[in-house]
Amino acid sequence: MKRFLPLLTLSVLFLGACGLEKPPASLEFPKSKEEAAAPEAPAAPAAEPAKDAAPVDPKLAAGKTAYDASCAGCHDAGMMGAPKPGDKAAWSERIPQGIDVMVKKSIDGFTGKAGMMPAKGGNASLSNEEVTSAVTYMVEISK
Ligand code: HEC
Repeated sequence: MKRFLPLLTLSVLFLGACGLEKPPASLEFPKSKEEAAAPEAPAAPAAEPAKDAAPVDPKLAAGKTAYDASCAGCHDAGMMGAPKPGDKAAWSERIPQGIDVMVKKSIDGFTGKAGMMPAKGGNASLSNEEVTSAVTYMVEISK
């Protein structure tokens, strides 16, 4: 019996080694699956929303650009009776007619009680969208 003990121990060890080999193998499968799935996870850009939180409305920024280039010449100085942006009294009577009417007058040209404004402020190269955004900008800062 004593003779067989080492052999028995050996075989137990061998079996034990076999038994130990299996669990890591079966544990590795889900692990490698996880690794394969990991690169697919979309990395959320955390910095983007903070940028958007900046106070400048892009629509108004485009309007300001068009205004500065084509409208400020008369409107900043109130030339020929042009209502100045930010002059709430000058705009309070004009705003109620609605932005669409003011845009149409700005695109077509307009002669009122105060004076005359040429079509698109005299800059025919402006698109209707640019005129619209310029009027929106003027009105927004004059409310
Ligand atoms: C040549 C000078 C001149 C330029 C350039 C000019 N305007 Fe005017 N604008 C006037 C005058 C004058 C009035 C006032 C007319 C009145 O009420 O008698 C006026 C009035 C307006 C009004 C008010 C209209 C209303 O119904 O009360 C808007 C809006 C306006 N302009 C937008 C613009 C925009 C946008 C531009 C640039 C694309 C522009 N203007 C460029 C002279 C100008």
